[in-house]
Amino acid sequence: MDAFIDGLPKVELHLHIEGSLEPELMFALAQRNKVDIPFKSVEEVRAAYDFSNLQDFLDIYYQGMNVLQTEQDFYDLTWAYLQRIAAQNVLHTEIFFDPQGHTERGIKFETVLDGITRALDDGRKKLGVSSFLFMCFLRHLPEDAAFETLHQAIPYKHRILGVGLDSSEKGHPPSKFERVFAEARENGFLIVAHAGEEGPPEYVWEALDQLKVNRIDHGNRSLEDGKLVDRLVKDAMPLTVCPLSNLKLCVIKDIHEHPLKKMLALGLKATVNSDDPAYFGGYMNENFRAVTHALNLTKQELATITKNSIEASFLDKNGKADLHKKLDDYMKTAA
Ligand code: HPA
Ligand code: ZN
Repeated sequence: MDAFIDGLPKVELHLHIEGSLEPELMFALAQRNKVDIPFKSVEEVRAAYDFSNLQDFLDIYYQGMNVLQTEQDFYDLTWAYLQRIAAQNVLHTEIFFDPQGHTERGIKFETVLDGITRALDDGRKKLGVSSFLFMCFLRHLPEDAAFETLHQAIPYKHRILGVGLDSSEKGHPPSKFERVFAEARENGFLIVAHAGEEGPPEYVWEALDQLKVNRIDHGNRSLEDGKLVDRLVKDAMPLTVCPLSNLKLCVIKDIHEHPLKKMLALGLKATVNSDDPAYFGGYMNENFRAVTHALNLTKQELATITKNSIEASFLDKNGKADLHKKLDDYMKTAA
């Protein structure tokens, strides 16, 4: 089964580029930029990645970002991620970045965007990995900070396909940003939002009805509300599920309890993604392996997950057809 997973053509739809900062690169950039980090070794960094909830993780995640300073740093970060996923047979990825995590530290929006997009362009040319870029608003910050970030992004609309919502979920419902997302939609940005990771099903309803999302990131807690499940199924609304993230952030107690198989059985358009792979113990293949072994997923279920990801991507009709064909060809030889 592991070999089947390795060879499966994959699509990633939920990945925070800052969450792909491996400890080795963190050290290298700290040295290059003469930034102090509170760790003596790579082992010490990894030992610190022991989280009880989302906020525990976010505190370390924002601290890790401090080493990212120059355009080249953002290029190196993104290029390292693309090389890793190319080696895992990920053919298309739609990634997030958190501009406010950098502009708040005095790094220019353009520095961040230029480094990431230059690497994504190289990924297309040199690795054959296609990609789209999404910008997330940090929901623990006020509405006016999100508006300011949106206004910084508008001149770069051709490089940023859409906007999302991340960071501390509890106490920061989607409705807090209804007006920001309305303006983002008016400007032609696609819309996604983290909802129902730690927050209640009401936050998923708000993401659907107030933010008018094209996709829900996580969405696990939707399962607590039957009417919400019916709505998500009726709308064929994709959920970007992140198994190892759920485990590391204690959204689930044990990987055997992961709701992915149940989501598929209910007819939800669930997909598998890595979220913050440097912090949560793995990229796409590791996430697929963990859930496949724990839940006894079949090759057919893995193909369904990948089909969901292709359909849930923002590729055009031809781009999707091309990936569906690659998946069909693979299933003919490997199933
Ligand atoms: N949830 C919320 N915010 C985040 C996450 C996440 O899983 N990863 C990076 N920022
Ligand atoms: Zn996330």
